[in-house]
Amino acid sequence: MKGMFLTLEGVDGAGKSSHLEWLATWFRSHGREVRMTREPGGTPVGEKLREIVLHEPMHAETEALIMFAARLEHIERIIRPALAAGEVVISDRFTDASFAYQCGGRGLPEARLEMLEAWVHADLQPDLTLLFDLPTEIAARRLATARSPDRFEREQADFHARVRATYLRRAERHPERIRVVDGGQGLEAVRAQLLAILESLP
Ligand code: TYD
Repeated sequence: MKGMFLTLEGVDGAGKSSHLEWLATWFRSHGREVRMTREPGGTPVGEKLREIVLHEPMHAETEALIMFAARLEHIERIIRPALAAGEVVISDRFTDASFAYQCGGRGLPEARLEMLEAWVHADLQPDLTLLFDLPTEIAARRLATARSPDRFEREQADFHARVRATYLRRAERHPERIRVVDGGQGLEAVRAQLLAILESLP
């Protein structure tokens, strides 16, 4: 079987993590081996970098470089081997998050990240990206009841609004890869949207 690379994206509080296990179960029930992973993180080095980048104050460019350093490790050690073995890799975030947060949120020029993307994974893109979208005020309300916020979750409303807008712009630019899911609906309604997307896969 051919490997498949699926990524989940969205603003903080959009609910993507609640659907990770359900997505894995769907693929397994269709006879697929599934590897669930996340960014930043996914490897021992990546998880250490995650601790740093989520909690230590740093320059925006350092932040971008760490995201891509962790990503390179993740791609070489986890993603490529799993895809080569024919598995479905489901990653909670990938490079779309760098464009949304480091460019949209922090204001880095996209050309910088395009260079890093060309360096780290010129020949690899997700086969499918599920973008969980919802108004950032609703996402913020969901987060307010959650555990202690990291550096990104502590950002102001306008930061999250720019992140959301950047994600949506990328979805418009890559409609064949990025599918927008209305994350503002209840769990069952979101699942119905996901199911429709999964059942339409080639
Ligand atoms: P997140 O999936 O939200 O983890 P959790 O659900 O445990 O809070 O990811 C952590 C944060 O990392 C999130 O706020 C977005 C940020 N991030 C970037 O800014 N750039 C990136 O390239 C990636 C992968 C994540």
